[in-house]
Amino acid sequence: MLTLLVILLFLAAIVAFLFKFATTDGDFTLISKGHAKRDEIDGKAVWITGASRGIGEILAKQFVNLGAKVILSARNVAELERVKNELVAKYPSSRVEVLPLDLASGEEPLKEAVQKAESFFSGCGVDYMVHNAAFERPKIKALEETEEGLRATFNVNVLGTINLTRLLAPYMLKRGKGHFIVMSSAAGKCPSPGQAMYSASKHALNGYFHTLRSELCTKGIRVTVICPGPIGTSNSGSSEKRVSSERCAELTIIAASHGLKEAWISYQPVLLVMYLVQYMPTIGYWLMDKTGVNRLDAAAKKGNTYSWKLIFGQKKKTT
Ligand SMILES: NC(=O)c1ccc[n+]([C@@H]2O[C@H](COP(=O)([O-])OP(=O)(O)OC[C@H]3O[C@@H](n4cnc5c(N)ncnc54)[C@H](OP(=O)(O)O)[C@@H]3O)[C@@H](O)[C@H]2O)c1
Ligand SMILES: *[C@@H]1O[C@H](CO)[C@@H](O)[C@H](O)[C@H]1NC(C)=O
Repeated sequence: MLTLLVILLFLAAIVAFLFKFATTDGDFTLISKGHAKRDEIDGKAVWITGASRGIGEILAKQFVNLGAKVILSARNVAELERVKNELVAKYPSSRVEVLPLDLASGEEPLKEAVQKAESFFSGCGVDYMVHNAAFERPKIKALEETEEGLRATFNVNVLGTINLTRLLAPYMLKRGKGHFIVMSSAAGKCPSPGQAMYSASKHALNGYFHTLRSELCTKGIRVTVICPGPIGTSNSGSSEKRVSSERCAELTIIAASHGLKEAWISYQPVLLVMYLVQYMPTIGYWLMDKTGVNRLDAAAKKGNTYSWKLIFGQKKKTT
């Protein structure tokens, strides 16, 4: 009788676990943290690239809501001003600076931008650097990518981002504290059929920033690498089920304020694929090989490129 009870409880626990895993929107460590630590954010200076729209804009709003001072960067000054005006209208006591910046413009403009960012808010310095800007990510077959696309992707996502880091880190080291939040991607962990260059650039970021942390963590520098799957922004416009950009920003701030080193944000099946590729690569890569061509087809038809159907093969539509 007791054995039966134990077995039943065990089965119930497994069912509850599977249900949780099927419906969650982040990795287990991240979800277990619950809420952002406000005292890690309140009063801090947060510099966000790619803050003119999408996830970056939402991140700026949530950081301000938690009491942070923010610096908004991107190329489009009018959009940055719009974001600033909306923030100041909603949070009249907030402190918001606009700092136009093209990450691909070479070293000098970045140097100037770093000096400016450090001088804002009576020279308190940047506490959080949120590397969120990225070059667009059209779905193109690996061998069809142009050199132009390759350069543009790497200049923004990798070289510009790393250059900015190398220029800013010395200021943080002098203060003995600083935190890099890096918007990578599930494509920075897994194969991403149709997005080879984007995936390569995000893998490069993961390699660089995890290494940077291993060198600087004893000197007060923290690094949080965020790997989102499909996120709903105004320009995503497709049929996939996506985690909202509000939830993505919320989970990003939870991860950073709890000092997590890496966090994954996604619904299924992408989250499952990430776990498989990380912990059972033989199975994970086998699955990705099965989905690769199907995904390219789905992308060409502007269909769902994150569907379970890609794994099990799509039925040919007779037209
Ligand atoms: N949305 C998703 O499904 C998803 C999934 C995984 C990861 N991510 C990552 O999350 C981050 C934000 O994504 P998102 O969808 O919000 O992107 P988005 O809507 O395309 O916005 C990109 C941002 O980057 C800025 N930017 C682009 N090129 C730049 C340059 N040369 N210099 C400075 N800023 C530049 C853009 O502003 P300007 O054009 O004004 O410069 C814009 O603010 C990216 O790193 C992306 O890779 C997104
Ligand atoms: C990065 O910095 C190097 C010099 O250290 C410079 O040659 C290169 O143009 C920079 N690239 C970008 C995209 O900032």
